[in-house]
Amino acid sequence: MTMRAHITGWGKFVPAQVLTNDDLTQIVDTSDEWIHTRTGIAERHIASDDETTSTMALQAARQALGVAALKPSHLDLIIVATATPDYLFPSTACLVQDALGASRAAAFDLSAGCTGFVYGLSVAADLISSGAYENALIIGAETLSRIVDWSDRATCVLFGDGAGAVVLQANGAEGGVLSTVLGSDGSGANLLRLPAGGSYEPASHHSVAEGRHYLKMRGREVFRFAVRTLPAATRLVLERAGLTLAELNLVIPHQANQRIIEASTRSLGLPPEAVFSNLERYGNTSAASIPIALCEAIEKKRVKQNDLLVCVGFGAGLTWGATAVRWSMPLPPQPISPWRRIWQKLRYFYAAARSSVRRLLRWLLALGTNWKGSDGHTNHDK
Ligand code: ACO
Repeated sequence: MTMRAHITGWGKFVPAQVLTNDDLTQIVDTSDEWIHTRTGIAERHIASDDETTSTMALQAARQALGVAALKPSHLDLIIVATATPDYLFPSTACLVQDALGASRAAAFDLSAGCTGFVYGLSVAADLISSGAYENALIIGAETLSRIVDWSDRATCVLFGDGAGAVVLQANGAEGGVLSTVLGSDGSGANLLRLPAGGSYEPASHHSVAEGRHYLKMRGREVFRFAVRTLPAATRLVLERAGLTLAELNLVIPHQANQRIIEASTRSLGLPPEAVFSNLERYGNTSAASIPIALCEAIEKKRVKQNDLLVCVGFGAGLTWGATAVRWSMPLPPQPISPWRRIWQKLRYFYAAARSSVRRLLRWLLALGTNWKGSDGHTNHDK
């Protein structure tokens, strides 16, 4: 039987702290009027000191697993799409894997800028339809507030923090992920980048003094690229699925700028209500924007069973991508019973305890090895 990848769970998390356009006028020379008319953004959520990409990803992941009623130990694969991982390595996906107790999952981060979630969805769907995996968790999560230059008004007004996640599961039924389109053009790499901190320009006093560890963007060129790419990718992904724009129920585009969304909507000849937008309250959350928007579209009853959705994104790289999905889950989802909620909490408590025990054992093993080494019997450094 041909296996198809179906979205069976979804979840989102945004930090409690909200930064409004008026708040930003206290930081840089800008105005609510400029930000709102040029971008459509009114406010964004900003991570607190103890929130990171992995902690937000974990919250979104737990919700998604709850909706899917899937045990973390049954996950085969975890992908975290992010441009702001907790560390360059280890991957944020491994931190999430450990905190979930997803003991048999492969885990890796995926770097494709704001298109990362669509890339992740495509990779996971193909691994599921090939029969390699049954259950995958795809997360888009970002803490962009940590790489934004808060003195650069051209960029700091645009971005926000958050995470969204979906569970993809193998099933022989019709629907699920129907087709995908992925693209890249590295000749535009300089349009949107974080210049320092990698092997090209390692972090140094000099790079920090010059602010080269902050995101740099040539906004107008990215804008032009986006309004060309979003409609083209949407058309192509539908064509690959053998479907037409007339059959489309909802487009969930990357949430970067309301003017980009509106120009793409016009170019596709779609009515405004066929394209979901929530960036007014979140700003651009990069790889997290599409899964957060998907969750909100479901909450607002904009998605129904059997609907045809297209998730479409563009971003740093340059990259772009789209996924056509026939929504197969009944909505609203079954509410999670109080007992199941308690059981889930216990499971995550067990995962944390398991992780601590494994760390302790590793530490004891290292201690034993060092002790033997000093005695002249065993030394792994030799
Ligand atoms: N407040 C007030 N004035 C501002 C601000 C601000 N926050 N920012 C810029 N300006 C000024 C500029 O200095 C400029 O003034 P000048 O004409 O005197 O030089 C003027 O406003 C116009 O600036 P532009 O950059 O031309 O403004 P534009 O209309 O292009 O809007 C924007 C800028 C919002 C950044 C737009 O280009 C855009 O949205 N681009 C796409 C960005 C994007 O989508 N990025 C995400 C990519 S995905 C990823 O991977 C992260």
